[in-house]
Amino acid sequence: MPAIRELLEFYAEAGVDTAIGEIAVDRFAGEPSPAPAGAPRARAAAAAPVPRAPQPAAPPTPDAAALDARNAVAGVQTLDELRAALERFEGCALRATATRLVFADGNPNARLMMVGEAPGRDEDIEGLPFVGRSGKLLDLMLAAIGLDRTQVYIANVIPWRPPGNRTPTPQETQICLPFIRKQIELVDPDILVCLGGPSTAALLGTRDGITKTRGRWFSYDTGKRQIRAMPTFHPAFLLRSPLQKRLAWRDFLAIKKALAH
Ligand code: URA
Repeated sequence: MPAIRELLEFYAEAGVDTAIGEIAVDRFAGEPSPAPAGAPRARAAAAAPVPRAPQPAAPPTPDAAALDARNAVAGVQTLDELRAALERFEGCALRATATRLVFADGNPNARLMMVGEAPGRDEDIEGLPFVGRSGKLLDLMLAAIGLDRTQVYIANVIPWRPPGNRTPTPQETQICLPFIRKQIELVDPDILVCLGGPSTAALLGTRDGITKTRGRWFSYDTGKRQIRAMPTFHPAFLLRSPLQKRLAWRDFLAIKKALAH
């Protein structure tokens, strides 16, 4: 059926590549069609009511969900407890469309922690951050300064894949922020690297874009102490703009130097 194939291709190009339920929901059913202008009232009223599809319970407001998130991490003492708290957490709608939680990869005792934006398709399938194309580039960049994943801890601001890899909303970021902050506190790295603008904005609170902030040292308060933090380009951006790799290389050399102290 060419029409169906074309429709599916259209969906794939638009990033609609995730089934979120077993049964299709006709969202138009149940909306009574408006009576045509000038139609007698009685005719519109007599139209047979169309049964409404069952509606899921309303999700908590972003503020309520962010409060739930802060409460969820309040007593957490270990990374295992944090993962369990995230597995239980119902306040972020992304968990319903993601295949699984993408918590972290690498060494929880590492002195260097890197934080990206959110998992993509490959990460969602494997349950590990940065395993797709941008992850392969990240591994090469780490190798260039003599590091591999046994010496780095890697996580994301958002631990569930946004459908179709769309940008997480500010509300989703706000809701997930207490979890990544707690993760940084528990790992307690000496150096934090924010991969890309969204991670930099979320964790360092900067309004400047990544081209301005990259390569600069910031101070990050883990809740226990101040550590050094550096924004750098996201590897996915470097795949699209390979000329910028020379600036990223400078950042990685600065990170290597900082780790030597
Ligand atoms: N991009 C991210 O920001 N994080 C990942 O884990 C993968 C791609």
